[in-house]
Amino acid sequence: MSISRAQAHGIIEQVKKQEIALGRDPNTWYLYENHVVGAAKIAQMIASEIPVMDENRVYVMGLLHDVCKTEEDRKERFHGILGYEKLCNQDEEIARACLLHSFPWRKLACYEMYAHWFYNKKEDYDFIENYIATHPAKDEDYLIELCDNLANKDGFVTLEQRAEEYGSRHPSEDLSPILIASNEIKDYFEKKIGHCIYDFYKKR
Ligand SMILES: [Fe+2]
Repeated sequence: MSISRAQAHGIIEQVKKQEIALGRDPNTWYLYENHVVGAAKIAQMIASEIPVMDENRVYVMGLLHDVCKTEEDRKERFHGILGYEKLCNQDEEIARACLLHSFPWRKLACYEMYAHWFYNKKEDYDFIENYIATHPAKDEDYLIELCDNLANKDGFVTLEQRAEEYGSRHPSEDLSPILIASNEIKDYFEKKIGHCIYDFYKKR
């Protein structure tokens, strides 16, 4: 079974309703929505110029990659794992985007570096490590990681703008390795499409 674009938007609507029922101010929902819709749109635009990629599929991956982000603190589990668990029976490919989108080039640093991301649940880190070891890389894995970093609460941003904004919220994290790797992934896709990814921003 695969999740369509309309179904994916329906899932996001359900998450919104659930969050508002739990007390979220509806006027702040755009902060989340601009990020996930921005990631979906830029993923689609890039994929539309790569014949082997399915632009509708990557749109859905971009839209749902953070489907459990808002539940992370409540449940004290890494949102990528929660998203994978939520969607894996419906659509493994989309669930995979949830699971892998936070790790540039699918590279995991040691558990000690990530323990806080995983709420100190080593079994969740081990699950992702094992998943990566047993599932060969696909370009979609790299694309969604990149697109996660090309959109924020305001929509499209450069990797540098995204890192600066994230860094201001998480001052103790060293983001330089992620920024370097994300720029490498950007170069990887720019070679495939033959132009700068930021050119898409001018066409909006
Ligand atoms: Fe994200």
